[in-house]
Amino acid sequence: MTPQEKVAAIAGKKGAGSIAALTCYDYPMARLLDEAGIDVLLVGDSLGMVVLGFPDTTHVTLPHILHHLEAVVRAEPKALVIADLPINTYATPEQALETARTLFAAGADAVKLEGGIRQAEKVRAITAAGIPVCGHLGMLPQRVLEEGGYRKKGKTPEQTREILAGATALIEAGVFAIVLESLTPCSAEKITAAIPVPTIGIGCGETTCDGEIAVVTDLLGSYPWFVPPFAKPEANLSQNTLQAASAYISRVRSAKEHGL
Ligand code: KIV
Repeated sequence: MTPQEKVAAIAGKKGAGSIAALTCYDYPMARLLDEAGIDVLLVGDSLGMVVLGFPDTTHVTLPHILHHLEAVVRAEPKALVIADLPINTYATPEQALETARTLFAAGADAVKLEGGIRQAEKVRAITAAGIPVCGHLGMLPQRVLEEGGYRKKGKTPEQTREILAGATALIEAGVFAIVLESLTPCSAEKITAAIPVPTIGIGCGETTCDGEIAVVTDLLGSYPWFVPPFAKPEANLSQNTLQAASAYISRVRSAKEHGL
């Protein structure tokens, strides 16, 4: 399928079925998640935290995203592959387009960037070049330092109106979907009902959006040092890893002790 066909399939799910999306940062995970039937794989800048060990996403660079995107693309997933534009790579429409072109050339089907009205010109520059764009509104991890932490959004009608104005500007600029992060369920529901493109929620409560996205390590329980309150692990890979490594260490040491 072409990127445009994959995007059309996701856009067509507005109000008709739920979009299941996960972050993905490497080849084996892309193969497994694709085999499971995931709709969207996001090479998100969360990789800075859960793969590279940075304290937040503000340390992520374009070479970081490219390195992981290329690994995901080698799996030739059927799922739509979205790549994040990292912080400081989309300061102007020209720079945003150049970054998006680099990611698209590396095999991303679409790109994602954070922010509303002030990003509309950048989104327009990218979509005009034929590269699909996903928006990202609500809590914006790339602004965590300015905001002094991860704060819930959409707590007041004014905040919801502001987010909706951002969504409208992004839609006019051509986004095919919008990630909503850490909105109150009520705010997420209002925005989802008000806009014509699918919303993909994280930390907005279940069934408030047209789909859900989770950070894959939260799903797998493989990054135990920071687990957001809304995470719903379906596995405990950190525990399994500790057990497997301990069993291996014991096996190697006891073989040595017994001269095997
Ligand atoms: O980078 C990421 O993982 C994201 C999700 C939180 C949507 O942008």
